[in-house]
Amino acid sequence: MTASSAWDGEALLERHDAETGATIFIALHSSRLGPASGGTRMKRYEDLAAARRDAERLSEGMTYKWAAAGFPRGGGKAVLAVPPGLDPARRDGLLRRYGALIQELGGRFWTGADVGTSSRDMDVIAETGAPYVFSRTPAHGGAGDSSVWTALGVEAGIRATCARVFGDRSLTGRRVVVQGAGSVGSAVIARLRDAGAAVAFSDVDAGSVRRHRDEGGVPFVEPGAVLETPCDVLAPCALGGVLTAETIPRLRCRAVAGAANNQLGQPEDAERLREREILYAPDFVINAGGAIGITGQEALGWSEDRARQEVLRIGATLERVFALAEAHGITTEAAARRIAQERLSGGP
Ligand code: PHE
Repeated sequence: MTASSAWDGEALLERHDAETGATIFIALHSSRLGPASGGTRMKRYEDLAAARRDAERLSEGMTYKWAAAGFPRGGGKAVLAVPPGLDPARRDGLLRRYGALIQELGGRFWTGADVGTSSRDMDVIAETGAPYVFSRTPAHGGAGDSSVWTALGVEAGIRATCARVFGDRSLTGRRVVVQGAGSVGSAVIARLRDAGAAVAFSDVDAGSVRRHRDEGGVPFVEPGAVLETPCDVLAPCALGGVLTAETIPRLRCRAVAGAANNQLGQPEDAERLREREILYAPDFVINAGGAIGITGQEALGWSEDRARQEVLRIGATLERVFALAEAHGITTEAAARRIAQERLSGGP
């Protein structure tokens, strides 16, 4: 295993899967607070360098996510970079070989679902990778779909954000634009609508647009216009890198609070948001619900009710982040990192 120079993680494993042409990256960022744990992302990438970079950055995000939540796990992430037109009949074989690789690591890496993978995929990975696999289906002994837990935490986070910006945690009539209606985005849309928010959404996937706009009656915003759409809260729930020097000047929201990992293109983008007086809920704080809810039940023996209480604490953690940022005149991102860093330097 080798670590790349630009990344401060512990190890990066790269394995080519000859049968499918896929490449597996497992990035172990930190085992300081516990075994490296994080989702398995499966998608196409521009090139292998981009896939590797994604694994590295996402694994770092997991380190901060667990630490900020005070959860005894370290940061890791896997990326399965698949070629275009991967034959669905070969997909399970890839997942099983990937599971065997997790098995080889003997507990140094634990995983769960992420973009492009499901609980059903976790069942397949667990055939060879158990016990190091979270978020399997209940029929296979897992706690199931993590996205509903992520959405629960995101709602709590949006409420804490609204309390800070508007002095009111109620979502009634709040205009929220959800970017990306995949598994987490869909669950966020449902929760926000139930809470009385005026939700609009955007997605690049035609099936998702049909489901939400045509069948669900959710107002749709063209993907190209989503950032400029006036709203109270923008909730990025698709892929990362949406907040950049190019996009931040165009935003017409009061706050950014959503589920996507790695929303900031560059660390300096946190300062750009602050200059525009847009309150940013750091992604690794607000989106921790899936990881905490599922892993808490499966690894720490929490009941569903206990998991709910713990995930809802994301609201209080964000309040701390906002208060610390204001007290020290720093960005919310820096404040959240400081909270996580304290735990990391304190040790397990
Ligand atoms: N996809 C989750 C995240 O990014 C990772 C996860 C899911 C970890 C389920 C453990 C269990 O936070």
